[in-house]
Amino acid sequence: MTYSGPIPQLGLGTFGRTGDAGVEAMLKAIEIGYRHLDTAQSYDTEKQVGETVRRSGLRRDELFVTTKVADTMLDKEDFLPSVERSLATIGVDQVDLLLIHWPSQNDQVPFEDYMLGLAEAKNRGFARLIGVSNFPIADLERTRKLLGEGAIATNQMEIHPFLQTPKLRDYSRAMGMPLTAYQPLAKGEVNADPSINAIATKHGVGPSAIALAFLMGEGHIVIPASGSEANLRANYAALSVALSPAEMDQMRALNRGYRRIDPAKSPRWDDQE
Ligand SMILES: NC(=O)c1ccc[n+]([C@@H]2O[C@H](COP(=O)([O-])OP(=O)(O)OC[C@H]3O[C@@H](n4cnc5c(N)ncnc54)[C@H](OP(=O)(O)O)[C@@H]3O)[C@@H](O)[C@H]2O)c1
Repeated sequence: MTYSGPIPQLGLGTFGRTGDAGVEAMLKAIEIGYRHLDTAQSYDTEKQVGETVRRSGLRRDELFVTTKVADTMLDKEDFLPSVERSLATIGVDQVDLLLIHWPSQNDQVPFEDYMLGLAEAKNRGFARLIGVSNFPIADLERTRKLLGEGAIATNQMEIHPFLQTPKLRDYSRAMGMPLTAYQPLAKGEVNADPSINAIATKHGVGPSAIALAFLMGEGHIVIPASGSEANLRANYAALSVALSPAEMDQMRALNRGYRRIDPAKSPRWDDQE
């Protein structure tokens, strides 16, 4: 049985949480209250996520688990076997959310092939929900036409106070689909921002909690990562922060289109400044 509620709005990124230290950090996060683990075929943390699920003391339906199909596994013959391998590596019958990690560059793999593969993974019960990652609006539109309205639970994108992607945000709102903000702390860079620090002092929390509270206030799901107990706690504190409309506006003013992740395989971004 998988998680049956809505996607927990604050999750844990697991990139970098490899080996035994990775499992210990994830178990610490669960103890703090995190209930959503984000992994991928390419992170080498699917095994650690599975071990965490089993050692957490929680029922399977109390934890939300996401994995992502790598861009090297999009071909028809690779797609579903790769998902079955992920399930075996994690040690579950079904993940809660299965994402396409990156669209195929220049449609080297036909779009329909892997998007229908994703839908088929859901039909076969490999995933309760399906979604995408690093999809610009043009690909979201192709998805809507191919799979229908509401087929996709989320689009996971780089979003933080310095990269707020307003076009994509407005499109996703109109579609009623939440975005998932990856790298929501801009790898810790939000901690050095004076305006975020000023708001943090007023709320008696650290700057990372303000960045995350802002993103959640915008309606996004957030998946910050940390291997340190102090930072895991500081980030989790975001759930108890409510920013005023004026503070939300101050945070919106920090957008400067600062993109950190832009590999050669990237699609044409909607909000490229
Ligand atoms: N779909 C995609 O293409 C994609 C791409 C990138 C990432 N992701 C997902 O998004 C997750 C998060 O992204 P990310 O890990 O790259 O970046 P991030 O969450 O923005 O930042 C993580 C980094 O910030 C530090 N940090 C965390 N909390 C902190 C705090 N309170 N104060 C100061 N520093 C802090 C961490 O160091 P410590 O460990 O020392 O705390 C770590 O180096 C990943 O783990 C992954 O699951 C997805």
